Amino acid sequence: MSYKKRDKFVITGGKKLDGELDIQTSKNATLPIMSACLLSKDAVCIKSCPDILDVENMIKILKKLGAKVYRVLDDLIIDGSQIKDVCIDYNLCKTMRSSIFLLGSILARFKSICITMPGGCNIGKRPIDIHIDAFKRLGVKVIEMNDFIFFNASKAKAGKIHLKIPSVGATENIVQFASILKGKTVIYNAACEPEVVDLCNFLIKMGANIKGAGTKKITIIGVENLKGVEYRPIQDRIVLGTLLIATAICGGIIRLKASNINQIEKLIEILSRMGCQINIKNDIITLAREGPLKSISTVSTGYYPDFPTDLQSMLLVLSCVVDGSTQINERIFENRFLIVKELKKMGAKIKIVDKHKVIIDGVKTLTASKLKALDLRGGASLVLAGLVAKGTTIIDNVHFIDRGYCYFEKMLTSLGADIKRI
Ligand code: EPZ
Repeated sequence: MSYKKRDKFVITGGKKLDGELDIQTSKNATLPIMSACLLSKDAVCIKSCPDILDVENMIKILKKLGAKVYRVLDDLIIDGSQIKDVCIDYNLCKTMRSSIFLLGSILARFKSICITMPGGCNIGKRPIDIHIDAFKRLGVKVIEMNDFIFFNASKAKAGKIHLKIPSVGATENIVQFASILKGKTVIYNAACEPEVVDLCNFLIKMGANIKGAGTKKITIIGVENLKGVEYRPIQDRIVLGTLLIATAICGGIIRLKASNINQIEKLIEILSRMGCQINIKNDIITLAREGPLKSISTVSTGYYPDFPTDLQSMLLVLSCVVDGSTQINERIFENRFLIVKELKKMGAKIKIVDKHKVIIDGVKTLTASKLKALDLRGGASLVLAGLVAKGTTIIDNVHFIDRGYCYFEKMLTSLGADIKRI
């Protein structure tokens, strides 16, 4: 990991993309799986663990708790058998929203945990009320004091939980917690995202008894203990989607290898309707974009299998450079249009109707500019804008992008883009 806080990207636009890539392992599958490793007293091996900042920060949190964590080539070994401390480091909690996934595993194993209210991020205030309500339904005592929250699960009992929002994180926390909680726990209105299914598959491989992963109703029957295993999480469908959209924006032809192409069906449908030629054979998706594309009138983000909120910013950039008008409805987060201000510097024509709706009128060209990444997916989208803009674009704060993309500049350079990290 040789990322540095002050890194920038320098991009010279105008190059078509051409090449092939194997897609990295999913950040949003790996992070909850790293937490779930603590449910076992054995060492666990996560195969092809992505080399990204969020994983690095999660490793720091696990080590501060007393877990032994080390990389062996591309794999990550986590041994939580010696964990003693159950207070998650204040600063790491603030900077790392994913620390919230540790609630489920640490509470299950140690019966108590003290965390600080996890930092929101720029895309929204990211409350954890649904997590807290769900734990309370299972008899966990929760005391909120200033910025700290104390959880005590010594009197917890299996039961039924109805999530008012199909929260990915809350579903993942309860699945972890219930996997070694005596009795039957049922989650209604559970999240169906592929990353939730992957966590369940990981736990089942460790010996958990979980039924219904990927549906709105998940049933978990607690088992005595879970054994150490080797596990390869799914590939990153958001990185896959980002590179497909990059090619739709720049033109050219790319071939991407991933075993879960079916998990971005909605995006593939949209890109085809816009005029991209797409072919899927075995685990390879080929996307070619030669001529001009036409806009899609309306796209709304939603819970899986709807169009994913994490690809919304990239589609917004694509909509800026295709002929016609596009309305984007962001139905998951309340502040996920941060890139609009940056794109307007490049000449994009975007109207923010309200915090959940924008209307974009495509323009012929974008002009290079000095930009600031303000969040992970928005930052990656500004890179895509730089790839097609006339001139040389500089993007600051690329550490946001490094949170989820494994050396994004290397991926794009291998596909023919002109991008450097300085
Ligand atoms: C996960 O976040 C992902 N992160 C997000 O990816 C993704 O955008 C999101 O799911 C939706 O798919 C990881 O998996 C690490 P939620 P999570 O709980 O679990 C509200 C990325 O770029 N909510 O499903 O935090 C919440 O504010 C990141 O990789 C509550 O109100 O998402 C949001 O509006 C960004 N109370 C909605 O629910 C709660 O207690 C969905 O959130 C929890 C959530």
